[in-house]
Amino acid sequence: MSTNLIILAAGKGTRMKSDMPKVLHAVAGAPLLVHAMKAGMALEPSKMVIVAGHGAEAVTQAAQAYEPASEIVLQTEQNGTGHAVLCAKDALQNASGDTLVLYGDTPFISAETLAAMQAARTTFDVVVLGFEAADPARYGRLVMDGPRLQRIVEFKDASDEERDISFCNSGVILCSNIHMFELLDQVTNDNASGEYYLTDIIGLAHAAGLSATAVACDEAETMGVNSRADLAEAEAAFQARARADALENGITMTAPETVFFAHDTFVGADTIIEPNVVFGPEVTLENGTHIRAFSHLEGAHVSRGAVVGPYARLRPGAELSEDVHVGNFVEIKNATLAEGAKANHLTYIGDASIGAGTNVGAGTITCNYDGVFKHHTKIGSHAFIGSNTMLIAPVSVGNQAMTATGAVVSKDVPDGAMAISRTPQENKPGLAVRLFDKLRAKKARQQKEGK
Ligand code: UD1
Ligand code: CA
Repeated sequence: MSTNLIILAAGKGTRMKSDMPKVLHAVAGAPLLVHAMKAGMALEPSKMVIVAGHGAEAVTQAAQAYEPASEIVLQTEQNGTGHAVLCAKDALQNASGDTLVLYGDTPFISAETLAAMQAARTTFDVVVLGFEAADPARYGRLVMDGPRLQRIVEFKDASDEERDISFCNSGVILCSNIHMFELLDQVTNDNASGEYYLTDIIGLAHAAGLSATAVACDEAETMGVNSRADLAEAEAAFQARARADALENGITMTAPETVFFAHDTFVGADTIIEPNVVFGPEVTLENGTHIRAFSHLEGAHVSRGAVVGPYARLRPGAELSEDVHVGNFVEIKNATLAEGAKANHLTYIGDASIGAGTNVGAGTITCNYDGVFKHHTKIGSHAFIGSNTMLIAPVSVGNQAMTATGAVVSKDVPDGAMAISRTPQENKPGLAVRLFDKLRAKKARQQKEGK
């Protein structure tokens, strides 16, 4: 059966104390909203509708950057979760199949859990995702009768007896698209909050002779983010799981607690990641790479046998072929290094291509930016770039060419040629000694005069 997705993301998130809408705060380099969208994508939804309100423009941008086919509807006033879902009614009026509601601030709902809800849908008309809460606090309580869910009562509206229930509502609900909106049309705001509760559809379903149940998941999955403390906790939870997965997948980490992954980091087996490595978005490491301590990588691809760091920085567009070595204090941006190329010390390579087996000496810089435009540097294969070479792009250095130490290269260097650009050296006999004597005498005079 086809499934439609509604993600509620209109809330302000007052407790974040932020100008940015809550759902755009990031965990593992991606907005909370994108985590929720990713979770929902597991169902291959035929439609994805995001209900936006606070910061709708920014929310729209983030949603469509991740999934251009996502549709945004506006909820200008936040009158409750039921009202929020109703805002998606027009967008889904011709939709068939089921509709699933997720929250944009709840990033960790797993594909397995959603599959379990779908499985329960074969027997029940409405399926709610619940969890045994360690501290039920202000969550909505699930009033069960055996396997049947009778109604959901919000904390504010609950009796003392109902408040004793520890099986709580996560907010995730699945039912047919038709039932969702038929039931919601009957929801009123006659309750302690004066809001339209999505949760009221359970009692209404029951009254209409429809069946409902609750599927249970681990409390950690339903974790919602309401404050910066929650955000930090969500990040820690994400990292703990990513590290465990990496170890499980054949990656060596000597201090996994110091390695930080992004939501989409791909690491091949038999990779070694040393302590204090940070991954930004869009990094892929093939099998058998070695990332040494204190390196920062984002938007980079590293091939088998390559060694990165210690203290290296790979920025977006860094493409390292097999057996490339990138060493300490080397920054690579929008550049390809072909097989076996090496840049081991104190170097900036930006907007460049480096041929196979080429050695880039310490202190080399591709001067790629003229203050307005970026320019490309092309270096051939098996070339040797002398230490402290300045490559003033656009410029090229041929195959098996060399640049002399300290060269300022502003003209193309042909294959096999050597570029030398330095002022000739002159040695003045005895000058150093005479200068030392003069300076020391000056210092002694100043000390005597008490200066
Ligand atoms: C809701 C549930 C509660 C459940 C809890 C789990 C209802 C009535 N209550 O309570 O049973 O235990 O979530 O966290 O559904 N939102 C909108 N527009 C609105 C209102 C909310 O987009 O008008 C969004 C919020 O941004 C948030 C989500 O819906 O992402 C949940 O809203 P929130 O106000 O946090 O619901 P709770 O009162 O916590
Ligand atoms: Ca909440």
